[in-house]
Amino acid sequence: MSQIKIAVVIGSLRKDSLNRKLALALAHLAPSDVTFEHVQIDDLPLYDQDQDGNQAASVKRLKTSIASAQGVLFVTPEYNRSIPGVLKNALDNASRPYGQSAWAGKPAGVIGVSIGPISTAVAQQHLRTILAYLDMPTMGQPEAFIQNKDGLFDDKGHVGAQSKEFLQGWVEKFVSWVKLHSN
Ligand SMILES: Cc1cc2nc3c(=O)[nH]c(=O)nc-3n(C[C@H](O)[C@H](O)[C@H](O)COP(=O)(O)O)c2cc1C
Repeated sequence: MSQIKIAVVIGSLRKDSLNRKLALALAHLAPSDVTFEHVQIDDLPLYDQDQDGNQAASVKRLKTSIASAQGVLFVTPEYNRSIPGVLKNALDNASRPYGQSAWAGKPAGVIGVSIGPISTAVAQQHLRTILAYLDMPTMGQPEAFIQNKDGLFDDKGHVGAQSKEFLQGWVEKFVSWVKLHSN
């Protein structure tokens, strides 16, 4: 496989999202044969099963983006000890109609940053349950529960010196995971 495309789904719509910053910083650590494409989820309708036969253009766009990627990277905050509703809505929208899920078989990685001391650990476990049902082979190790601290990002928005070795290793392992599990 020559060029690898990873679809990046960010579980926060916030303009100054730490998770978006993390996703952008991770892309700088990736090998040159990998591109990260952020998918848009802020214009998806609230999932409604009555619309399965008439999916909105934004849902079709999301499904096309996922279908054309070799893997999916979820970068998400934790909201009230679970995943944000916007992320669940994206997962539900692109999982239907039944039998036409965009997610099935796509290798996935899960990571997230939070201000809390246990980071996004609980949200990630909830997300893993959903991804298992969606039949996405999801990298188990290394886990990455990032707590936001001064120096996590440098002044260019890249990963700061203290976290660089760990996150570089995480990205390399994830890219290998995608290569191993993509068709
Ligand atoms: C509705 C809401 C619920 C939150 N719940 C949690 C939580 O359960 N665990 C946690 O560590 N942080 C929680 N936080 C704080 C987030 O970690 C923090 O707002 C973080 O910056 C959100 O990610 P973002 O910067 O990518 O938007 C919550 C924030 C909001 C707005």
